Amino acid sequence: MMDRAALRLIFLSVFLISATSDPVKKKQNVDIYSFYINSTVTSRYATTVITSRVANTLNESQEIQFEVKIPKNAFISKFRMTIEGNTYDGVVKEKEEAQQQYNRAVSRGQSAGLVKSVGRTLEDFKTSVTVAAFSKVTFELTYEELLKRRLGKYELLINAQPMQPVADFKMDVHIQEKPGISFLEVKGDLSTGDLGNAIKTTRADKDAWVTFYPSRDQQTKCKSCGENGLNGDLLITYDVERQNPKGEVMISNGYFVHYFAPTDVPRIPKNVVFIIDRSGSMHGTKMDQTCLALLRILSDLDEDDHFGLITFDSEVSLWKRELLQATEANLKNAKSFVKEIKDRGATDINAAVLAGVDMINRHPREGTASILILLTDGDPTTGETNKEKIMGNVKEAIGTKFPLYCLGFGYDVNFDFLTKMSLENSGVAQRIYEDSDADLQLQGFYEEVAVPLLSDIQLKYPGGTNLTKTSFSLYFNGSEIVVSGQITDNSVESFTTEVIAVSKGNNVTYQDTIMTKDPSDVPPENEDFMQRLWAYLTVKQLLERQVILKGQEKEDEKKEALKLSLKYQFVTPLTSMVVTKPQEGDVEVADKPKEGEAPPRPPVMHPHPKSQSRLLASGYGGGGGGGGGSGSSASRALHRHRQGFRGTAVPSSAFLETDAKSPTVLRRVTVLSTVSAPTVRSNRFLLPVVGQSKPLCFDVPVPHKLRLLQDSASEFSMNGESMTGQNGFHQITFHYKTNHHLTINTMSIRYHDGQNQVEFLWRQEPIQHNTEGVSLILRSNEIDVTMGNIHAVILLHKEKNDVFLWPAVRQQLKDVSLTGILGKTDASYEEIQGSQTPTLKINDQEVSGSWEDVTDYRLSSKPVIKCWLVSFYAAMQRDISDFTVTKL
Ligand SMILES: *[C@@H]1O[C@H](CO)[C@@H](O)[C@H](O)[C@H]1NC(C)=O
Ligand SMILES: *[C@@H]1O[C@H](CO)[C@@H](O)[C@H](O)[C@H]1NC(C)=O
Ligand SMILES: *[C@@H]1O[C@H](CO)[C@@H](O)[C@H](O)[C@H]1NC(C)=O
Ligand SMILES: *[C@@H]1O[C@H](CO)[C@@H](O)[C@H](O)[C@H]1NC(C)=O
Ligand SMILES: *[C@@H]1O[C@H](CO)[C@@H](O)[C@H](O)[C@H]1NC(C)=O
Repeated sequence: MMDRAALRLIFLSVFLISATSDPVKKKQNVDIYSFYINSTVTSRYATTVITSRVANTLNESQEIQFEVKIPKNAFISKFRMTIEGNTYDGVVKEKEEAQQQYNRAVSRGQSAGLVKSVGRTLEDFKTSVTVAAFSKVTFELTYEELLKRRLGKYELLINAQPMQPVADFKMDVHIQEKPGISFLEVKGDLSTGDLGNAIKTTRADKDAWVTFYPSRDQQTKCKSCGENGLNGDLLITYDVERQNPKGEVMISNGYFVHYFAPTDVPRIPKNVVFIIDRSGSMHGTKMDQTCLALLRILSDLDEDDHFGLITFDSEVSLWKRELLQATEANLKNAKSFVKEIKDRGATDINAAVLAGVDMINRHPREGTASILILLTDGDPTTGETNKEKIMGNVKEAIGTKFPLYCLGFGYDVNFDFLTKMSLENSGVAQRIYEDSDADLQLQGFYEEVAVPLLSDIQLKYPGGTNLTKTSFSLYFNGSEIVVSGQITDNSVESFTTEVIAVSKGNNVTYQDTIMTKDPSDVPPENEDFMQRLWAYLTVKQLLERQVILKGQEKEDEKKEALKLSLKYQFVTPLTSMVVTKPQEGDVEVADKPKEGEAPPRPPVMHPHPKSQSRLLASGYGGGGGGGGGSGSSASRALHRHRQGFRGTAVPSSAFLETDAKSPTVLRRVTVLSTVSAPTVRSNRFLLPVVGQSKPLCFDVPVPHKLRLLQDSASEFSMNGESMTGQNGFHQITFHYKTNHHLTINTMSIRYHDGQNQVEFLWRQEPIQHNTEGVSLILRSNEIDVTMGNIHAVILLHKEKNDVFLWPAVRQQLKDVSLTGILGKTDASYEEIQGSQTPTLKINDQEVSGSWEDVTDYRLSSKPVIKCWLVSFYAAMQRDISDFTVTKL
């Protein structure tokens, strides 16, 4: 089902130690003398082993890191470190048990933890260990995944980023497919340029080998490589022969797998309804990309398809009341409609989906396949907003007659809700990442469901038990149905499969009998792969069903998934891997959190102010210096402290400060404050007004998460989060393009450029940090942020016991259409003379105003000035819900 997010390792440490010195120099003290990636794919089941051998060439001990990226869909099943002949194996335990072990380690003052980082297709695994002078360490990580057929092919994605050129680098991939490999292609950025010459592909009938042995020299010369060596992906795509329409069955050691992907059936005409969110938050790029994708999708409809278009915000608009046939004339009209879609109000998901269901229900379905596709980027905010009720309504209306697919656009979307709603209606939810290729992602999703071949598919295995899912609502061209199970009686000679389905209105049956003792099935060294495949698929499906189950059944299935995860040592959302390290029983925990959690936030090295521009390196190099791993210790301390800070509702009673005399030493300053009841209930914003000397102002109640400034054209956004009882914001984030993320809170400033991260503390020495298109200038209590042509300033204010942030835009740009709370630049009003209470006219509407004080936090001097206070709606001409976000 949906991709799962990253592995996490949270680092905690109890001591505050000096920051690192120059890691660029230190890098040369770490030699990765060998790096192997070995992947074996047997009948779509891929097992990949990454082995990295590293020497500490320094005359003292230092921390050495191991960091790799693995596909989100994979489960880690083994991790081992070998140091001076001793091996340290990760052990998969129930999450709570692992957590306890980790807590004990923390309470004993040993470091331990979790880190996470989530990408679109890959997740991060990262650990480190202290290695003695001139000693070596070997890291070995194994992960497993079942390759899924999409649009007619399987994809094996392998990422390589050893962090330095490696003398002995080898990638070996062996694919074995019993029915034969029909095509194989090697793509990805590691296959371009000179590096492409290092790839060798060997094909036999049922096997293919891909080797990639780039020389040290070649490792520095690819497009995405450099001084730090390889950095990129190899993507191996292939498909298998499908001579037998009844599918391919493999049997090994009492387990079987059945791959069913017939190609001999005609397409079923479809009825498809697109339900498109046009709420205010879709404004700009998202709306443009959605319309672009829709236009292309409409062009792809077949003439015997029927389609409907619904757009919704707080109102639901039907392009046409009925489904219409995809004739040239209808498509032309539909395209004109799509081009006119404009973003506007709130989000009434309930009414929109029900309208879609109704449209399909009113259309005769004989011999066709119906599909409902919902695209939204937010929460239901108007009409029925209770998610349980919406799900109930939708389930009842659809009544298992056809699937609902939900596409969640961006990170503000409630993806759990969409997942649950689609699974309840035999569909899937898919995330559309806010990126320049979002239109292609949308189109790609549509293509996967564009050609239904069978509906109501039931698979039966008289000799099988403990089967994975056996009933599917639709089978689409280019995909594949996979069922695995155990064989009831291992001594039987034959095994029978039966598939019953509906093809274009006719019932069809596929029946097959396989001899169980076929010797050519599985290579002996790999004979337990089938059992692992079964376990992998069973665990994935049990976890997926967790979303829609309740009560005892949910508990039972969870227990079963846990049991299997432990037995097969899979790191799943229910388990964690505990790694005990040589140093005084030091413990780390790795686990797999959910999709949709916050974007990358790996542990950081705390930069020395004078050398920050060179301190971007992550991965190998570690902390080291005189203190041995001290760099990361400093940031661990920060991290731990920050957690404590967040956990309290009352303003900070302790914060970190740098010691002015010695900027590399962190010192914890505890400020005892009298705790007073929270008084702040809203944040007051000033609104610049065209042609008036008296400013407007408006209040935004706290707590809230707000879209402060956005420029869709340059993919820039700035969001802020406020807390109950506290002035201003306690966290402000910036996102620019897809890779730049800046997070500012009241203690530190963290900037991630997609690969590397730096962190600064407020009140440290002035710092300037420049990378491509981004400039950060930190003065004692202000940071200037320039991203592209947008320039904002974040101020750190202290007021009584309150420490908070306030954003300011210093320079309004022409020709840039900014949105967000600070993006409005065209406000104007007239004072209405002679009315009893002060009245203003804004946008032809009379609104009441009052003459109030406001502190202008946009300046560090915090002057108090007077303003016309009006309602939020009057000031911004939009609902506040159009400015709230669910995630920073
Ligand atoms: C990869 O695995 C295969 C099979 O287990 C083994 O024969 C081969 O030596 C391995 N290659 C490397 C580079 O470790
Ligand atoms: C390591 O080598 C450096 C320079 O060669 C020397 O100054 C230092 O004392 C050595 N450290 C240890 C722990 O031997
Ligand atoms: C299914 O896809 C294959 C390859 O993409 C194509 O050759 C075939 O015509 C498609 N079948 C139908 C019924 O469209
Ligand atoms: C099916 O799984 C259950 C629980 O995992 C197990 O007890 C049972 O033996 C399995 N059935 C067969 C036929 O192996
Ligand atoms: C297909 O089978 C179902 C039940 O097995 C039956 O109700 C239905 O009438 C059949 N449809 C056709 C077209 O034969």
